[in-house]
Formats: sequence, structure tokens, C-alpha cells
Amino acid sequence: MGHRDPPTRAADTIRYARCIQASKLVRWDIDRDVIRNRTFDYGRKFLPDSLARIERFGFADADEKRLLSQIQGRTYANMFGLVERYIGAKLAEVTQLHALGDQIVFESLVRFTDEELKHQELFRRLEGMMADSMASGYQFVPEPNQVARAILGKRTWAVLALTCHIELFTLDHYRQSIDADPAVSELWKDVFLFHMREESQHAVLDELEWQREDRRISSAERDAAVGDLIDLVAAVDGILKVQAASDADYFMHINRRKVGAEDEVALRDGLLCAYRWQYIVSGVRNERFLEILGAMLEPAQMQRIASALGPIVGHANG
Ligand SMILES: [Fe+2]
Ligand SMILES: [Fe+2]
Repeated sequence: MGHRDPPTRAADTIRYARCIQASKLVRWDIDRDVIRNRTFDYGRKFLPDSLARIERFGFADADEKRLLSQIQGRTYANMFGLVERYIGAKLAEVTQLHALGDQIVFESLVRFTDEELKHQELFRRLEGMMADSMASGYQFVPEPNQVARAILGKRTWAVLALTCHIELFTLDHYRQSIDADPAVSELWKDVFLFHMREESQHAVLDELEWQREDRRISSAERDAAVGDLIDLVAAVDGILKVQAASDADYFMHINRRKVGAEDEVALRDGLLCAYRWQYIVSGVRNERFLEILGAMLEPAQMQRIASALGPIVGHANG
């Protein structure tokens, strides 16, 4: 273990133990609890309007808005499946550091990793269901192992920062948007309700392991890790650009009327704006995330991150 495993702070032991308890309490099964032989209702929305930034698609009528919500929702499920590949791999690595150490920490992280494997299976199942019932031509472009290899090449501090941000926005999306929209497909809502119940523990464990890593590294390493985090956000943004373009093509391919040149510009910009909002901006606005990050970094380092995010935040808020 040695220097790789700074001891758990006394006050944190109870938080790890509570995560194990909560994980046992909320544990669900894909078929028995979530899908329950149901299918998606294509007469209803998938992603709620606020997350899908539906106000950006002024050219679309009600049917087209619903289709945009469903296409974005399909990508939303696939994006979780994508990031859970690297999260599972990273957590397996972090978990191993505790194998002969604190057994409470070890168990909490084993459960976390196991849950992410189950979530990946859930999102593969959903993609299969949507592929069977939506018009053909949809493509989820990013390849999970290729993305995971690129992310895992960065410093642990930065990878855990990105992960903590993802787990926190997952909770915000459900509590602030998905749960609040009565027009969303029931199965869709349940998927993210059950997902959120397990992610609640992940968000705590990410925070604890990220802070442990922060205590381990030198200030020079932390400064380099800030650069890695900026690189990771840029890589995520690159993925969003590619998938937004693919989803715009798919919409134009399957929509019942032809999309004119001016509306195509709005469609492409609207999708990129929505994806930046969903996967980057909503997370970096999370108060808990900013609190944890702010306690670790110097103001100049916070400023570096804010500057790098500036154009993305500006677009998504525009
Ligand atoms: Fe998950
Ligand atoms: Fe998670």
C-alpha cells in the first residue's frame, strides 16, 4: 500500500460505511425492478425539455420536439454507458489499492464497481430496445474502450475529478429535471430514478477517493493534474461535437419533412448546446463540486479551469 494509500480520515470511515448500507438497501435488478417487461412509449418524451434545451429548437413543431427529445434521450443513455466503461476500469484500479487495507473502504468500492458494470448492461439493453423500435440510421459514434484508454492515461486526480462531476450532475438531472417533468415516458423516468439511487453513493465515494488522492500528491503534481482535467473536458467536448453532428444527421434523415438550410444551422447548434449543457456545464455549476474543487485549488488554478471552460459555458448559456 505505502504512499499510494493515505489512511482514511476518522470522520470519513462512517461515510464509507453508510455507502455500503445504502448500496445494500437500494440495490435493484434490471428486469425485476427497472424494465418490468415494459417498452418505451414513443408518444411521450424521453429527455425533459429543460435538459434537452428544447427552447433552442424554435423551428420544430410538437412532433419534431418529441423526436428531438427521444434522439437526445437515446444518446443520453449511451453516454452513460460510455463513461461507465472508464469509470468501472478506474474504480477497479483504485479499489485494488485498498485490497489489503481498510476492508470497509474496499467493500464500498467493490460495490461501486459492480454497480457500474450493471449500469452498463442496463444501458446496452435500452439501446437494443430503442434500436428495435426507432427508425434505422442512428449511430452512437464514440467507442467506449478507445475513450476509456485516453481518459485512463491522465492523472488519477483529474480522472476522479471528472468522475465526481459526472456522478453529481447525474443526481441533479434526475432531481431537478427528469422527476419534475410529467410528460416523460414512465420507463424512461424509472431508469434514471433507479440509476440515481445507486449514483448517490458513487458521488460520495468519488469525493472521498478524490480527496484522498489530493492529500497524496505534491502541489506540482496537482498543478499538472489541473492541466489534465482541462484536457479531459476538451476531450469530452470533442466527443459531444461528433455525436451532436451524428444526431443532427439522424434527425434530418428520419424526420417526416425536409429540414431547410436555416433550420439545419439551428438544429446543429441546438444539439451541441444541449449536449454541452448536459455533460459539462450542468456539472461544473454544481455547488458541491465547486466546493470540493475550490478547497483543493489555488485561485489561479480555479481561474485556469474557468478560462478553459469559458467558451463552452458561454455557448450553453447563450
Ligand atoms: Fe452509473
Ligand atoms: Fe456511478
